[in-house]
Amino acid sequence: MAIQSLQTFLFIVLQVVGRVTCLKEVSDRQCDCYLTNDTSKNYFTTHNFFDFRALAQYAKVPSPIADPYDSTNADETSNYFLNDNWTKVWGIQQWNNSDTVDSGDVPVLLVNSPNNIYIEKNEDENASSDTFLTMRTLRYKDYQSTAEFESISKAYHFLSVRMYARTIGAPGAITAMFTYRNDGGSTQLTTVQESDLEIRTMDPKDKVQYTNQPSYNAAGYDIPKATRNATTPIQADWTQWSVHRMDWSPTDTTWYIDGRQVASIAFQVPRDPSQVIFNAWSDGGEWSGNMSVGKDAYLQIQWIEIVYNSTGNAKTTDKRNEDTAWSLSNAKRDEEGCQNVCSIDDTPTTGTPVLLQGGASRISDHILGLGVAYIWIPLLLATFLI
Ligand SMILES: *[C@@H]1O[C@H](CO)[C@@H](O)[C@H](O)[C@H]1NC(C)=O
Ligand SMILES: *[C@@H]1O[C@H](CO)[C@@H](O)[C@H](O)[C@H]1NC(C)=O
Ligand SMILES: *[C@@H]1O[C@H](CO)[C@@H](O)[C@H](O)[C@H]1NC(C)=O
Ligand SMILES: *[C@@H]1O[C@H](CO)[C@@H](O)[C@H](O)[C@H]1NC(C)=O
Ligand SMILES: *[C@@H]1O[C@H](CO)[C@@H](O)[C@H](O)[C@H]1NC(C)=O
Ligand SMILES: *[C@@H]1O[C@H](CO)[C@@H](O)[C@H](O)[C@H]1NC(C)=O
Ligand SMILES: *[C@@H]1O[C@H](CO)[C@@H](O)[C@H](O)[C@H]1NC(C)=O
Repeated sequence: MAIQSLQTFLFIVLQVVGRVTCLKEVSDRQCDCYLTNDTSKNYFTTHNFFDFRALAQYAKVPSPIADPYDSTNADETSNYFLNDNWTKVWGIQQWNNSDTVDSGDVPVLLVNSPNNIYIEKNEDENASSDTFLTMRTLRYKDYQSTAEFESISKAYHFLSVRMYARTIGAPGAITAMFTYRNDGGSTQLTTVQESDLEIRTMDPKDKVQYTNQPSYNAAGYDIPKATRNATTPIQADWTQWSVHRMDWSPTDTTWYIDGRQVASIAFQVPRDPSQVIFNAWSDGGEWSGNMSVGKDAYLQIQWIEIVYNSTGNAKTTDKRNEDTAWSLSNAKRDEEGCQNVCSIDDTPTTGTPVLLQGGASRISDHILGLGVAYIWIPLLLATFLI
């Protein structure tokens, strides 16, 4: 009896160990596609990981620049932001909202500055990284100094994007991670397609705002179906380091904090290829509120990870957009489907994918070895104990 229970116990232990061991860490070159672990199980063709956790050589908090023009024209804060790895994917913004201030739409001038995006040493007690990326926003008497970077590509077409981040600082700012597309002028509401994660620093620390824009109509009325004022899981208020995840699929946008679903919106889901944007800002309007002069707020990010499809990428996409040229040139791959399916969720090492299926020859040794172990270790132990 006792030996039988022991055998059962060992068998279970080995199965768990076997499962973990079989999910072999691989490089992106070995992955044909990525399967996310949410309920709708989306497949994506491409994976990107930006790790800001060990960049001590670039760490330096730049002094704020008071003059708005000097602020606009400031240099990147370190060579990290001049390297191809960064510049091929992200563009640091220098625009301002003087047109909407002039037209009376918002009260405070907002000026995006490269000086507000930098690598900072993590001075936390028992710090979980050496460094992180900081996006800073500061209130001067006559304007708000802000930070934004946007993807160079406007062709993201469905994605799962995650950041390990926190927001700290004074009320009156918004920190955000979102997709964006605008086919018209900035004032044309109906041409915007956008899925947002926004933290309002004036809100309670356990409230995060999720929206499929537009959230109000031409008459200025709110569209409640477009937004969620969600509650964070316990211990994961927005001042704490947490994984914030947004999955944009053809049917809905769904948001998670530390792996737990906190909101899902099927209404007004963006349809067309879009950009991915991160920012920290305020314009003194109703949504952001006013920051007090001399105060500041920060979005701090340890890493960003994205799996996505994109239009124009040969391997993409959603059936509705498959073009003939692609179908012909990739006829072989198409027939075979996605051979090597990887996961960025089931990995023990954030940023490194694991192989879920396929590549049989590569993992056969593991399976074989463990398969044999399933049989002989319990047998050996049983024999020994008897
Ligand atoms: C704001 O943008 C306008 C239009 O691009 C430009 O003329 C102006 O110099 C900018 N202001 C600042 C403070 O950079
Ligand atoms: C750029 O990325 C490659 C591949 O991840 C890496 O080997 C290289 O060190 C990076 N370069 C810099 C300057 O960070
Ligand atoms: C840091 O670690 C020490 C030792 O484990 C612990 O006593 C302390 O409470 C930790 N501090 C924080 C802020 O977690
Ligand atoms: C979200 O709800 C909290 C109260 O639960 C409220 O204080 C906050 O103003 C709300 N935020 C928005 C944007 O509605
Ligand atoms: C999905 O993976 C994340 C890690 O990326 C994890 O936190 C979460 O619990 C997983 N969710 C499910 C449903 O397995
Ligand atoms: C912010 O302050 C300006 C005056 O500088 C005022 O016009 C505006 O109404 C304030 N915004 C809010 C949301 O109270
Ligand atoms: C992404 O592209 C792949 C390959 O074409 C396709 O199988 C998959 O369904 C696409 N994913 C989404 C969410 O559209």
